[in-house]
Amino acid sequence: MDRILIRGGRRLNGKLPISGAKNAALTLMPCGLLTDEPLTLRNLPRLADVDGFGHLLNQLGASTTIEGSRPEDFGRVMTIRAGQLTSTEAPYDIVRKMRASILVLGPILARAGQARVSLPGGCAIGNRPIDLHLKALEAIGADLEMSAGYVTATAPGGRLSGGRYRFPVVSVGATENVVMAAVTASGSSRIENAAREPEIVDLCRCLVAMGARIDGIGTETLEIEGVAELHGATYAVMPDRIEAGSYACAAAVTGGEVELTNVDVASMGATLTALREAGVGIEERRDSIVVTSDGQLRPLTLTTAPYPGFATDMQAQFMAMLCKAAGASVLTETIFENRYMHVPELARMGADIQVRGRTAVVKGVDRLVGAPVMATDLRASMSLIIAGLVAEGETSVARVYHLDRGYERLEEKLSAVGADIERDGGG
Ligand code: EPZ
Repeated sequence: MDRILIRGGRRLNGKLPISGAKNAALTLMPCGLLTDEPLTLRNLPRLADVDGFGHLLNQLGASTTIEGSRPEDFGRVMTIRAGQLTSTEAPYDIVRKMRASILVLGPILARAGQARVSLPGGCAIGNRPIDLHLKALEAIGADLEMSAGYVTATAPGGRLSGGRYRFPVVSVGATENVVMAAVTASGSSRIENAAREPEIVDLCRCLVAMGARIDGIGTETLEIEGVAELHGATYAVMPDRIEAGSYACAAAVTGGEVELTNVDVASMGATLTALREAGVGIEERRDSIVVTSDGQLRPLTLTTAPYPGFATDMQAQFMAMLCKAAGASVLTETIFENRYMHVPELARMGADIQVRGRTAVVKGVDRLVGAPVMATDLRASMSLIIAGLVAEGETSVARVYHLDRGYERLEEKLSAVGADIERDGGG
């Protein structure tokens, strides 16, 4: 089982390239199912979840070919060809390993008029229901039947009708599923209280490039006029705002000066505001951000919220950074019910964190001490890396397969800006 070893205490200096966004890639890839023409995605990150999704597309009968990228390049070019689907089912053994597989439900239903997808089940951060995905699909004409841990969706007459749905709470995945299903419906659809994350904007822009008709992109109300069919396109995946924010937290806490390159600056508003509030120097350039820090940080009060609020996917990384702030910070997690799995591991490195319900009080300490720790979920594992970079001595992070799901070539990127970090096959 791979683990990552870090010897902390080094300042970070230099340029760090940001990859394509995992959470955009995982909703752009299923768009290839919506047309019998090729969809080419550029700047695709080299991640386990992207590879896993590619295997799922292959199971459904789509080919996925990686073209024109050298091993040393960050980002890949993938062309998805779904001339015809050979299956309309996403099986349990795939969906349980990668929850984002649920995002094939809408596209398969739209393309084939029927779909059978395993319920994803929960994960480390929460039970992650899909009731909103199902209610939204019903609202645009799907007939649904649940049995034996699967949902079977059918479009009467083979084509969804379109319709109107107002989300009771914001859901990124459910918004993505219903948008992908609605673009080839026979009528129009109006989606209210839709998620506005930049990854949703990326999805809508890609669908429009494929011939979809969507108004209100980037707002909470999406108006979709169904079209008979979509055509192929070439589309570049947006830069990963969470990866960029994660490395910014690392540079902030170690001290130093790091330029994050290939960044979508506009998508990082709440993260950059919080970093500046903590006393970190942030210089915004056209497609890069320069993070400058002396390692002295002010405490913060942060509450996670749907975009454009402070991202839940940044909570663990900020917590690790704030373990070294001069004072007490208060973090409140409003999106997921169990997203503090990193707390006991950080405590083993000397952090002083008290969790009460959804709120964590992080009292800054003078020093963190390296220790063997264990990753539990993707962003929690990044918080342990950040803590290890500033801790005295050696930190070994086990179960790094969690990290490989969302951070492309992490140790290579961090080594290049001066971190003493390596991957160790043992452990
Ligand atoms: C997406 O998950 C992201 N994953 C998550 O990133 C991210 O944390 C989350 O959005 C919130 O921004 C991908 O894009 C692949 P939600 P998703 O539906 O779509 C509840 C990472 O670290 N809910 O917006 O699953 C749900 O339980 C991952 O990169 C329902 O109740 O998130 C949660 O409490 C982690 N019923 C809240 O809504 C539903 O049908 C928000 O979930 C769906 C969701």
